[in-house]
Amino acid sequence: MQEELNKQINAEMYSAYLYLAMSAYFEDRNLSGFANWMYIQAQEEMTHAMKIYRYVFERGGRVYLQPIEGPPKEWDDAVKVAEEVYAHEQKVTGMIHNLVNLAREEKDHGTDNMLQWFVSEQVEEEANADELLQQLKMVGGKGQGLLMLDRELSQRQFVDETQQE
Ligand code: FEO
Repeated sequence: MQEELNKQINAEMYSAYLYLAMSAYFEDRNLSGFANWMYIQAQEEMTHAMKIYRYVFERGGRVYLQPIEGPPKEWDDAVKVAEEVYAHEQKVTGMIHNLVNLAREEKDHGTDNMLQWFVSEQVEEEANADELLQQLKMVGGKGQGLLMLDRELSQRQFVDETQQE
C-alpha cells in the first residue's frame, strides 16, 4: 500500500506539472484567464500530493520521492488542452479507484477512508474539466466567445480543499 501511495504522490505532482505547463502555454497566448485556471489547478494538485504525503507519515510510513515525468510543451489550441485535462482526470480517477480496491483487499480501513476524500474530489475534478471542455466547444474555441470565457476563468480563486472538512 505504501508503495502505491508513493506512486500516487508522484502522479499528483505530475498533474501539477502538467497543469502548470498548460498555464504557461496560455500565458504565452495572452489568455490570462485560462492561465489562471490552470495555475490554480496546478496548486490544487500539489495539495493532493501533500495530503497523501502527510497521511503516509501519519501512519508511520515512509515517503520516497521519484523523478517527475516531463509534461508536454505545446498544444494545438485551447480545445485540445481541455480535452487533455478531461482525459487526464479520468485517468487519475481510475488510479484512485485502484488504490481503494487495494486498500480493501488489504483490509486497510484507514487508507480506504482517506482515499474516499479523493473519490469525491475526482467527481468534482471530472465535472469541472468537462464543463470547461463543453464551454470551449460551445464557443468553437475561438473569437469573442473565447475572450469572454477567458474573462470568466480569471475569476477563479485558489482554495485549499484538503484543509476543509
Ligand atoms: Fe489530483 Fe486533478 O486530481
